[in-house]
Amino acid sequence: MAFDFSKIKLVMAPMEGHTDVRFRLLCRHYGADLVYSERINSYAIVRGNKSAMKAMEMTEAERPIAMQIFGGKTDIMVKAAKMLEEKADIIDINMGCPAKNSMKIGACSALLAKPAKIKEIVEAVVSAVNKPVTVKIRADNCMRNALIIQDAGASAIALHARYVKDGYSGKADWNLIREIKKELKIPVIGNGDIKKAEDAIEMLKITDAAMIGRAAVKYPKIFLEAKELMNKNF
Ligand SMILES: Cc1cc2nc3c(=O)[nH]c(=O)nc-3n(C[C@H](O)[C@H](O)[C@H](O)COP(=O)(O)O)c2cc1C
Repeated sequence: MAFDFSKIKLVMAPMEGHTDVRFRLLCRHYGADLVYSERINSYAIVRGNKSAMKAMEMTEAERPIAMQIFGGKTDIMVKAAKMLEEKADIIDINMGCPAKNSMKIGACSALLAKPAKIKEIVEAVVSAVNKPVTVKIRADNCMRNALIIQDAGASAIALHARYVKDGYSGKADWNLIREIKKELKIPVIGNGDIKKAEDAIEMLKITDAAMIGRAAVKYPKIFLEAKELMNKNF
């Protein structure tokens, strides 16, 4: 259960279609302190679906790694988390993806409007596994949801500071990250629009860790540059 989040500063964001073993190793090589699997459907894990098994592949050199699951059914999420806990250093729950097909099954960002369900899923997964459980959310009702997630026993929260309706457009509102960081006792990973190494340093001034997505796909060395700047700045 012990996981030292204080060492986690630069984080590679989970990205479907990108964050496979090869890319995760590259990001770790350049200095990412934590990497994520892409989101994996909890039903598919439980059924032993081939694509889920593929997405669950990992190597020791990637550690620490968070394996991310999604779903709308608590018992299935618990089963999937238990199947991943041997491999993963962290079990992460996706509550941020805006994809219509996921929302239709009550998963991912559909959960952001359902505080009771958030509590139920997080509490159930936390009590079922012996690994830290984290949750990745979006801006929608973020203060309320973050407090529920913390009370339910999560070890950290990642906030992609954009509303579900905005998809990946518009600008992430870092003020929301600032506000949540002030209220929460657990670590807050800030995400959204870190485009260059300097932005990661700005993120680290307001919260515990900086999560980088699209910029790392274009230029994985962003982690190296951010590490170098961190060594100068902190
Ligand atoms: C192609 C793509 C796939 C993504 N897949 C996931 C995913 O599987 N799980 C997740 O939590 N977020 C996913 N995201 C969201 C990213 O993790 C991140 O929150 C978002 O891109 C904002 O960060 P950025 O501005 O640094 O890219 C995805 C984003 C993109 C662009």
